Amino acid sequence: MSSVDTSRCHWSYQSWCKPRERREARPRWRNVSSFDPVSFFLAWLAAPRRVGAVAPSSDALAKIITRDIGETTGAVVELGPGTGAFTDMLLRRGVRQEDLTLIEYGSEFIPMLQLRFPGIRVIWMDAASIGASGVFQPGEIGAVVSGLPLLSMSPRKVMAILEGAFAVLRSGGAFYQFTYGVGCPVSRPILDRLGLKAVRVDTAILNLPPATVYRLTRRIPRPTRSIDFARESKDVSSV
Ligand SMILES: C[S@@+](CC[C@H](N)C(=O)[O-])C[C@H]1O[C@@H](n2cnc3c(N)ncnc32)[C@H](O)[C@@H]1O
Repeated sequence: MSSVDTSRCHWSYQSWCKPRERREARPRWRNVSSFDPVSFFLAWLAAPRRVGAVAPSSDALAKIITRDIGETTGAVVELGPGTGAFTDMLLRRGVRQEDLTLIEYGSEFIPMLQLRFPGIRVIWMDAASIGASGVFQPGEIGAVVSGLPLLSMSPRKVMAILEGAFAVLRSGGAFYQFTYGVGCPVSRPILDRLGLKAVRVDTAILNLPPATVYRLTRRIPRPTRSIDFARESKDVSSV
């Protein structure tokens, strides 16, 4: 999906739930989490490449990927929240629910996210549309947390996701990504092309399978040596 399919966007909890139902649903979200592994596994059976994991991420991985994020980060976007393992941790880190937006492409996860996190904006959208969607202003976002299975995506798609995310990330903002693989899941040519650098944050050994978190940020542009042409020509003529 290259542009935003608006029929799949902004399917927010508020739009289909009346206020009374919203109040009743609020305390139930913690119970929903006990069904995470089952619903997650069923989602993986139906779409293994898109879901990319057989079970939700552990608390250990959620702690690492959200380590640098807190109440002062401002607006945070989560890509591929699944059943909300990282969402829950972001809230525990102090991110305000009105500062958080979840972008999920798997329709099977949307009702559960809306039930678990009634005050959070949930958008049913391909993460590759984040830049072109017009949902966010350039430089509006403080951090992006991604649970996307980048290793099973085409380089073109990975480029679109990162290009879009960095278009809306503010200067100094970071993109956090985990991987089950060895090394950064974003290839060197893509990092170079987008002017990004990747730093390994930590590995969650207690995750199944163990997973490593990377932080992607913009490279600081090297100061270019300014050439004083007038002076250089004077120097040459005096030789
Ligand atoms: C490996 S799961 C991670 C789920 C959750 N963050 C966790 O760690 O438990 C990948 C998630 O990304 C979602 N996803 C895959 N491709 C996507 C895309 N193009 N846009 C948005 N979400 C996507 C899947 O539906 C799934 O929920």
